[in-house]
Amino acid sequence: MLIAQITDLHIRPLGKPAYRVSETNALTERALDAVANLRPRPDVVVVTGDLTDCGLAEEYTLLKQLLSRLGIPTLLLPGNHDRRETLIDGLDLGPHAVLEAGFIQFVADLGPMRLIGLDTLVPGQSSGALCEARLALLDKALDGANGKPVAIFMHHPPFNCGIRHMDAIRLLDGAEEFRAIVARHPNVERILCGHHHRPIQARYAGTLAQIAPSVTHQVTLDITDDGAATFHMEPPAYLLHHYSEGAGLVSHMAYVERYPGPYPFVLDADYPGAHA
Ligand SMILES: [Fe+2]
Ligand SMILES: [Fe+2]
Repeated sequence: MLIAQITDLHIRPLGKPAYRVSETNALTERALDAVANLRPRPDVVVVTGDLTDCGLAEEYTLLKQLLSRLGIPTLLLPGNHDRRETLIDGLDLGPHAVLEAGFIQFVADLGPMRLIGLDTLVPGQSSGALCEARLALLDKALDGANGKPVAIFMHHPPFNCGIRHMDAIRLLDGAEEFRAIVARHPNVERILCGHHHRPIQARYAGTLAQIAPSVTHQVTLDITDDGAATFHMEPPAYLLHHYSEGAGLVSHMAYVERYPGPYPFVLDADYPGAHA
């Protein structure tokens, strides 16, 4: 069971880079090509929010075209940059989507796992929240897993990471209730987020919470008290989560870019410490 997680695409109208710098459409296209060419092929691709930069219909139309080339089942979640109505109108959410109470969530039993997607969007705000209705879906979906290993996906991370301006806009309302629900379910293998545009992990409520890097721009790694909100064009990357009996869920970070290699570990005769 192989899950590719990509996040924070920030698709823009044609010819308009995000923040004048980040060519998000081209970067997303490259990431989707990298995922489409993976061997073995992922069983599912999960996109953890900020699908578009401004939630415009034109942006979702462009994303729909890009996603149609993947050829892999895809689960989608909104981020703070998305707009629910435009997203629902513009994209195919697939058979696992749960569109109750106006939220965009999913519950998918795939292979040995249950994947739960939570909608943490608050319209007009950068921070995230989980209200009673969304927490109720989580509670029900966790109980319904009957002990199966679960991965919970959501855009906003529930923990502080030290990058102050991002901590100010993480999952805020409902975070304590979320923690309590997760703590009651030891079958939660992972909490998988986006939003922070960096690879970050933390122990959380008896499990591991993990933030995927963006396939576009990365938030500057600055854990000083007064760090400014800026970004760098560091290498775009994504996460590959592989589930197997015994090992459980193992997560790899993979770069979109191809680098020189593969090279064999050749030891020449004059190599210090070489064994013939
Ligand atoms: Fe983002
Ligand atoms: Fe975000």
